[in-house]
Amino acid sequence: MARIELTDIRKVYPGGVEAVKGVSLGIDDGEFVVLVGPSGCGKSTLLRMVAGLESITSGTIQIGERVVNELEPAERDIAMVFQNYALYPHMSVRQNLEYGLKNRKMPKPEIARRVDEAAGILEIAPLLARKPGQLSGGQRQRVAMGRAIVREPAAFLFDEPLSNLDAKLRVQMRAEIRRLQRRLATTSLYVTHDQLEAMTLADQLVVMNGGRIEQAGRPMDLYERPATLFVATFIGSPAMNLVPLDAAGGAGEGLVGLDGLPGGVSDGVVLGIRPEHMRLVEADAHEAGEFVADLTVTGVEVVGAESYVFGALAEKGPEIAVRVPGYSHLEPGTKVRAAGRLDAVHRFDGASGRRLD
Ligand SMILES: Nc1ncnc2c1ncn2[C@@H]1O[C@H](COP(=O)(O)OP(=O)(O)OP(=O)(O)O)[C@@H](O)[C@H]1O
Ligand SMILES: [Mg+2]
Repeated sequence: MARIELTDIRKVYPGGVEAVKGVSLGIDDGEFVVLVGPSGCGKSTLLRMVAGLESITSGTIQIGERVVNELEPAERDIAMVFQNYALYPHMSVRQNLEYGLKNRKMPKPEIARRVDEAAGILEIAPLLARKPGQLSGGQRQRVAMGRAIVREPAAFLFDEPLSNLDAKLRVQMRAEIRRLQRRLATTSLYVTHDQLEAMTLADQLVVMNGGRIEQAGRPMDLYERPATLFVATFIGSPAMNLVPLDAAGGAGEGLVGLDGLPGGVSDGVVLGIRPEHMRLVEADAHEAGEFVADLTVTGVEVVGAESYVFGALAEKGPEIAVRVPGYSHLEPGTKVRAAGRLDAVHRFDGASGRRLD
């Protein structure tokens, strides 16, 4: 068990790419922290520095009481689970689980105890005699988890461990990893570029962009109060609707009733509202505390119990998504009116991208 503390971590690769530009982050003992962000933002680099697989250009990494900057991976008391599982194909599942422990010259009875316990937790006991090639993708993933568990490390590090699985299995394994982590209460750092996976797994969600942390906090806090335009559009699907107000301070053609907006509307402000805080209304049927947007339908996405209606605001305006219950039959080109709650509108500074209030 351990707390992990990253202080002002930078990574410049030979050749000059600055992949991580000063990251500070605390991971509490037993906490599940998920790093999420677009491809190339530095997630794997940061994780690999914690693991000791990549040198640190500057800053300090502390695991438990120790600064581990100069320690070899094997000395850091962490276990890593990769996307490609990295199982030894010629060894049985049992041998794969035993391998790291044997290398550490652990007594045989202790090895057997740990392997049997992990196999029990992961329900892979019937598979112990098989080779990795004789397992399904999900089973292989479980064995990879098992190999991390038997080490009883101070922390687990995961780099996109589910990205090779199909969508259904991914959801299932996601839930399993969450349950397992709760049960073992092992400090965990998990990297993914899937924002839904990140939202559902994290105690603390860390959104990275261009080698920096954009925002860190509880998933719902990021969802409800994104600190930047980047976070606003990265977390949530479909993304938050954004309407940049024009230079004249106007309210964007096609939008009516923004005068009641807390904080007001002015030059260079970008308004944001999530699709679930909007609804379709009859002409003039909106209520106090709402603004309205006149849209020309561009498309409909039916998700099952609900649909998203997409429509263009004015002639060249941005596309706005509105969540509607049930099955929407609206045809492209149809004119509709949407209403949005003024108290659900976020305001951002268009130039810096920062939240205004
Ligand atoms: N060994 C390396 N040498 C030089 N540059 C590298 C090296 N590894 C990664 N980079 C660069 O560092 C940046 C961050 O890469 P990293 O692999 O950490 O991104 P990532 O967030 O994990 O992306 P993905 O979601 O695609 O896995 C990228 O610009 C990448 O090209
Ligand atoms: Mg990566």
